[in-house]
Amino acid sequence: MLKEQINKDNIPKHVAIIMDGNGRWAKQQGFIRTLGHKTGSKSLKKIIKESSDIGIEYLTLYAFSTENWNRPKLEVDTLMKVLINTLKKELKTMLEDNVKMNAIGNLDKLPENAQKQLFEVIEKTKDNTKLTITLALSYGSREELVNAVRIISDKVKNNIISIDNIDDSIINEHLYTHNLPDVDLLIRTSGEYRISNFLLWQIAYSELYFTDVLWPDFKEKDLHQAIIAYQKRERRFGKTSEQIK
Ligand code: IPE
Ligand code: IPE
Ligand code: MG
Repeated sequence: MLKEQINKDNIPKHVAIIMDGNGRWAKQQGFIRTLGHKTGSKSLKKIIKESSDIGIEYLTLYAFSTENWNRPKLEVDTLMKVLINTLKKELKTMLEDNVKMNAIGNLDKLPENAQKQLFEVIEKTKDNTKLTITLALSYGSREELVNAVRIISDKVKNNIISIDNIDDSIINEHLYTHNLPDVDLLIRTSGEYRISNFLLWQIAYSELYFTDVLWPDFKEKDLHQAIIAYQKRERRFGKTSEQIK
């Protein structure tokens, strides 16, 4: 069993996943793309449960990018429906498992019923403490940074912040992710080796893990494999290997 090989003393605190490959999965099976998204939501359920079991504290999931709005309307509508249904279905499990829901992105752009469902789950799970799930919805890292620059500039203009005080932590505080720690491990499924506008600032020192597995096929054992790979890495943060030991 792969799970037994996981070192419990070195669990990544914050794991982020680019859940990619739903469309290709559906095509391979001879289904329409939208069915891939429905099946992908089942992987999500499994991975949330397993992350909590392993002891991951923060799981951030790229579910819909700012660029994904440019997909055909039918696909966007289906993705929003899948989101609403998943939130509805998972609320009970989240409450039982002490899981807290959080969301990042330009949430105002989501359809009203999706926003309503999302904020209901966020509100009802706000006191949970075991695992924080952050859904990145209508999320784009560049948009997040532009937004931060605007807010900071406005504060400078109004003498709330002085230019000399702008540093890493000031920028951090103005990102959607201000209440999350840095990402330790970033996983991307489906064999694509790119970041696609996800957490550009936050992954400065993350370990990156790419797998060919398509998201609807991503199972507990695939998460275990990613964590085992992470545990074999030496995170030096610019120092020498000798300094770390
Ligand atoms: C990921 O799967 C889900 C979203 C981007 C919303 P895709 O829909 O991108 O699947 P592929 O990459 O076309 O296979
Ligand atoms: C990234 O996947 C966004 C999500 C997984 C939600 P995409 O499929 O949209 O990314 P590209 O277009 O392949 O870069
Ligand atoms: Mg894709």
